[in-house]
Amino acid sequence: MSLKRAKITGVGRYVPEYVLTNAELETLVDTNDEWIRSRTGISERRILKDPEKATAFMAEKASREALEEAGVDASEIDAIVIATVTPDYIFPATAALVQKRIGATKAYGFDLSAACSGFLYALSTGGMMIESGRAKKVLVVGADKMSAIVDYTDRTTCILFGDAAGAVVLEEADSGGLIDFVHHTEGDEDCMLYQPAGGSLRPASIETVQNRMHSLRQDGRSVFKKATEGMADVSLEIMERNNLKGDDVAWLVPHQANLRIINATARRVGLSTDKVMVNIDKYGNTTAATIPLCLYDWKDKLKNGDKLILSAFGGGLTWGAVYLEWNK
Ligand code: UT7
Repeated sequence: MSLKRAKITGVGRYVPEYVLTNAELETLVDTNDEWIRSRTGISERRILKDPEKATAFMAEKASREALEEAGVDASEIDAIVIATVTPDYIFPATAALVQKRIGATKAYGFDLSAACSGFLYALSTGGMMIESGRAKKVLVVGADKMSAIVDYTDRTTCILFGDAAGAVVLEEADSGGLIDFVHHTEGDEDCMLYQPAGGSLRPASIETVQNRMHSLRQDGRSVFKKATEGMADVSLEIMERNNLKGDDVAWLVPHQANLRIINATARRVGLSTDKVMVNIDKYGNTTAATIPLCLYDWKDKLKNGDKLILSAFGGGLTWGAVYLEWNK
């Protein structure tokens, strides 16, 4: 067994064409553009309107693009890990659908449920597969069709979320690559952020549908407090244990849930805003897709040797950070 690190060799993404603006949301719920932009930083988000298409469709598109950039044929992929809380079905896994559609004939695949931290959990899982020597090429995807579980009569949540997918190909690195990760979980028994029905505790019934229990619910203020602490703490934790100061880090790649949480994290870790990837204004919170969407939007600016801190906080509760050195 080798002990090689993993590195990202290709990044792809898919965002649906339909743009849901703050102005359109004003026609659905009692809200306004000024409130949304000042409280969240969001101007618009993308929505997958076609009812026949869902998370696997977006994940497939993003995966194909990532594979093309990496110059890797799908048949070479050993494993597929897809982070999502909006799988097409409870089972089969979205990863299984994508495996078939892209022709990853020798790959096994599974979904991973860690909400907004899902991409980082999946990235470190894929990284460990390569480090162990069990896999040489792994496809890691973060994809969510949040519009499928958003209640568009609830102004406290419907303004936040969008649909998208991001994918990366991981391969063995000679230097740099995924260097470290820290993950945390704290079971959310208080149901601060959850989807009440549709699981085995509350299967679909007339009552669950009538009470809109298949949509996500969030106690925004409580999650905000936890997220602000958690993202900053975990970012500092991974920096300190790798002896990194703010000046050493080229880019902070934060989960895009709220611009105020992102700015608070950047301040705590000592990074100026020009070193923080932010695209929440265009896409809103796309749950597992936010971090790969940032990597995609910034890929022309990334230089080999750049030290990146990726960090996220989300439902579960889950939070985590990945330290990687860009080396493509
Ligand atoms: O990605 C997964 C993790 N999730 C997060 O990190 C999200 C964390 N939470 C947040 O980002 C914020 O809590 C929100 C953006 C959801 C809400 O912002 P807030 O500054 O925490 O607002 P709030 O919940 O304290 O509400 C302030 C006021 C309330 O009115 P009153 O009670 O002060 O009269 C709300 O009813 O704003 C009202 N409000 C709205 N007003 C206009 C809530 N939603 C809206 C809205 N438009 N869409």
